[in-house]
Amino acid sequence: MGSYHDAYRQSLEDPEGFWLTAAAGLDWTKPPTKALDDKDAPLFRWFPDGELNTCHNALDRHVESGRADQPALVYDSPVTGSKATYTYRELRDEVATFAGVLAGLGVGKGDRVIIYMPMVPQAVVAMLACARLGAVHSVVFGGFAPRELSTRVDDAKPKVIVAASCGIEPTRVVEYKPIIDEALTLSTHQPDSVVVLQREQATATLGERDVDWTEAMATAKPADCVPVAATDPLYILYTSGTTGKPKGVVRDNGGHAVALAWSLTNIYDIQPGDVFWTASDVGWVVGHSYIVYAPLIVGATTVLYEGKPVGTPDAGAFWRVIAEHGAKALFTAPTAFRAIKRVDPSGEQIGKYDLSKFRTLFLAGERLDPETYHWASDKLGVPVVDHWWQTETGWPICANLRGLEPMPIKAGSPSVPVPGYDVRILDVSGEELPRGEDGAIAIRLPLPPGTLPTLWGDDARYIESYLARYDGYYLTGDGGYVDEDGYVYVMGRTDDVINVAGHRLSTGSMEAVLAAHPAVAECAVIGVRDSLKGQLPRGFVVLKAGVEISADTLRDELVAAVRKEIGPVAAFRDVSVVDGLPKTRSGKILRKTMRGIADGRDEPVPSTIEDPKVLDALRPILRGGA
Ligand code: COA
Ligand code: AMP
Repeated sequence: MGSYHDAYRQSLEDPEGFWLTAAAGLDWTKPPTKALDDKDAPLFRWFPDGELNTCHNALDRHVESGRADQPALVYDSPVTGSKATYTYRELRDEVATFAGVLAGLGVGKGDRVIIYMPMVPQAVVAMLACARLGAVHSVVFGGFAPRELSTRVDDAKPKVIVAASCGIEPTRVVEYKPIIDEALTLSTHQPDSVVVLQREQATATLGERDVDWTEAMATAKPADCVPVAATDPLYILYTSGTTGKPKGVVRDNGGHAVALAWSLTNIYDIQPGDVFWTASDVGWVVGHSYIVYAPLIVGATTVLYEGKPVGTPDAGAFWRVIAEHGAKALFTAPTAFRAIKRVDPSGEQIGKYDLSKFRTLFLAGERLDPETYHWASDKLGVPVVDHWWQTETGWPICANLRGLEPMPIKAGSPSVPVPGYDVRILDVSGEELPRGEDGAIAIRLPLPPGTLPTLWGDDARYIESYLARYDGYYLTGDGGYVDEDGYVYVMGRTDDVINVAGHRLSTGSMEAVLAAHPAVAECAVIGVRDSLKGQLPRGFVVLKAGVEISADTLRDELVAAVRKEIGPVAAFRDVSVVDGLPKTRSGKILRKTMRGIADGRDEPVPSTIEDPKVLDALRPILRGGA
């Protein structure tokens, strides 16, 4: 093995040389002379003296260099029965005009804009328009409830919210405007304006501070790109932590553009002009990086798909999109493949489409179980590449680098550390573990460009959450091991973060909702294995003494409360009323032990347990489901 090992070694031994070379592929208004700024270590910055505009790199430079008429974005929406293609010139013009709308509403460099939109091209336009002005966007996923939106409004303090009138789910049209209005009644901070894209499936009634997207676009003057420091923030993306308060992951402009461009060619093997399809949502990091920024920065064509993997109209939906748009690669979450496999186990639909341009399937967002890996490999006949990363890193930590040097694939492993990431396995005391031994997966600082420099407005929380556990390391929150060939195996979170259908959620925030119910004395929520969604949350509640309420009523009320407070995406449906929760002598609920038993593992009883009888009583409930 040559290229990978050379690149990996150089990225760690000579990060200046490695990343300045990668940076040279972008347009800079002021090219960086230095890669790493470590003067505030353990807080690091990349390209401290560089200046650029991310939107220019994603659009204008391609228009200027001969790609003006190449499709930049293909919108394919089976849920509305519509399709549209935007060339680089058309997308640049839309974005420049919408940047003019935002500028007219007072948005300038450094101002925040919350984007609450479904998978429509205007969501991409709004993101890039913010980037064009040097404003900071924060996209909020449509499946979150008003309270979650309101928490983000109060933290990011946006000048403007950009929304659509509705999103479309298979069973219903989700009206967004009432969600925004309710969120704003819960928020202390108030935006000056809310721009609403009216969709015909449900139009919104506009109030005083609301602005109609189409009307505003008709009169706006296009705005130019505003150069920003490479270290200036491009976006904030909130993600679940172990507590109820989401973490505002910050992404900078320069490091992000450099890392994403590097990753798209070296990991995903996508070149300018190729068609790349990421089936996720712009509300998640996967959507930010690989629906929007990476493909456009590289000059590829990105597919924006509004629909589900099955039922739109059938289990052939994904193959139709790949064939019709000539996608070279698809990136999605394993759960989407489990959904397809469930409906079309023999893969009959695959044979109906011309997949001759399709080269690679990339899967991430949750552990790729070997069964799904084998099914996808057998049925598609292309390499199925598991890769591991997080909202915080913004691009893969471990992958099989298909563009740099394809390596053998091992089921169950996202392959090897990507250049820039010095991955280590540590024990509880911070000692590095030998190969094959399971421990906490940590990354030696500094993290490479494109990863989070901090949390929004909260350096202290960033340090406490990620850097304080092991001196000199970033704590990923995942556990796993490295095998004799250097392949990393990611076995699951070591904290209270769970992953439901590729969506990252906090059991802590669900517990907070359950605990607020007047009948509940104490509670625990754990993530248990699910054959479709990977994990599902399961709640356990102990009633207050003397409270009379039927288990069914309580369950319905708790399920409704989680849906109302967190959102339908939590997929919380399963609650058991129990007599007690197993605890340590110091009163900590033994969630890990409960999780292990629920997942069918031979979990030893911890020596610190307060009363083993409580666990014994719970065991059949954990094993049997609710
Ligand atoms: N707006 C409003 N509601 C939403 C939503 C959105 N953007 N996205 C999901 N929801 C709702 C769903 O309608 C569902 O509501 P319900 O309880 O009334 O049925 C609930 O949230 C749970 O959604 P989800 O977990 O997505 O389940 P699903 O049954 O609708 O679909 C999959 C399951 C596996 C098909 C789907 O999650 C999927 O395609 N996932 C893979 C791709 C992906 O998005 N990965 C994310 C990161 S890579
Ligand atoms: P998110 O921030 O939503 O991208 O979720 C990140 C988390 O998802 C990681 O910390 C892992 O727990 C999990 N995850 C993502 N990709 C993988 C993978 N390929 N294998 C195992 N777990 C993964």
